[in-house]
Amino acid sequence: KTKIEKIDRMQIDEAIMEEAGQIIKQGGLVAFPTETVYGLGANALDEEAARKTYTAKGRPSDNPLIVHIAEKSALEEIVEELPEETKALTDRFWPGPLTLILKKNARVPYGTTGGLDTVAVRMPDDPIALELILRGGGYVSAPSANTSGRPSPTTAQHVAEDLDGKIDMILDGGNVNIGVESTIVDMTSTPPMILRPGAVTKEMLEEVIGEVETDRTLLSENSPQAPKAPGMKYRHYAPKAQMILIEGSPSDTVLAIKQLAYDKAVFGRKENGEPYRIGIIATAETMSQYTYGTVKSIGSRENRRTITKNLYGILREFDEEGVDIIYSEGFFGEAIDAAIMNRLLKAAGHKRIPASEILKLQTY
Ligand code: TXA
Ligand code: MG
Repeated sequence: KTKIEKIDRMQIDEAIMEEAGQIIKQGGLVAFPTETVYGLGANALDEEAARKTYTAKGRPSDNPLIVHIAEKSALEEIVEELPEETKALTDRFWPGPLTLILKKNARVPYGTTGGLDTVAVRMPDDPIALELILRGGGYVSAPSANTSGRPSPTTAQHVAEDLDGKIDMILDGGNVNIGVESTIVDMTSTPPMILRPGAVTKEMLEEVIGEVETDRTLLSENSPQAPKAPGMKYRHYAPKAQMILIEGSPSDTVLAIKQLAYDKAVFGRKENGEPYRIGIIATAETMSQYTYGTVKSIGSRENRRTITKNLYGILREFDEEGVDIIYSEGFFGEAIDAAIMNRLLKAAGHKRIPASEILKLQTY
């Protein structure tokens, strides 16, 4: 049975945290909040605990876990060497939503790294997470605490939906702050390479260490190569409905989605003859302009943080509504949009249409 405990970030209950830490030390699984998404914590130095993590998530075991630490000095204890730019990055961005890939040393079992000689390490910026890591022995592996293939959890409720009964404890710290997973940077390549975009943007990294590359397989749908972060190849974050991303200026996008939703609602029929149930991922600014479908605001274009925060929750809501097709607005022009679009495009299985193409077809 899974124990669910509310924790107040401002006044952390020591007894509960100690109990949670003991569970980790004894090889159990504890879900906990971080500033990005909820993680499923286990002892990172225990191969058997990693195996349990994969089983609970239903995740392929070639997909490596991120090791979470609570003190910067813990990093050098688990890696072979620290490339030059590492210190500048950890000084600037830790604790925070940045994961670094480094050569692992013998303390880190292959069970944790999915057989790789490298290890992903991050120091999260959440007092509950840091406390759990310290009490759990200092090295806590944590993938996102969702069932593999479901949107990442941004509330304890999401975690319970997926993992209740499969893990020992859930620490409920309320809503997360960021809502999309950490930026992953591979420090073993020259120049360092972004394997997954997040709240620490390319621009922010380059300000500190100069040139940074982006894994090209992230940018297109049918790259012949596998992405460098094994997890990025899976169709994560997948809503049950088919999803299509509409690209263009905000005003063109609204017009195009209205057109698509109208056509689908009025003329479209499912194989069983029933009308389509349509979902629309809109924004605070555009929400009132739609006339068909179930319309949900993902946040405000004026404040992208509201969008990262709501993104996975919206996908889960649409799953519950049982819509057949989701049209989503796209986001372009701000540095964080790389992270937002990466998740939306993955949810859409990379299905995207330029708004201009839809509007061109409009005959009246
Ligand atoms: O924000 C986050 O990073 C969250 C919270 C809980 O910290 N964690 C998270 O973990 O997103 P997960 O397991 O859902 O995603 C980890 C990603 C996967 O795509 C995995 O393939 C990649 O990191 N990864 C881990 N170790 C790696 C390595 N040694 N080399 C390349 N990619 C690695
Ligand atoms: Mg994940």
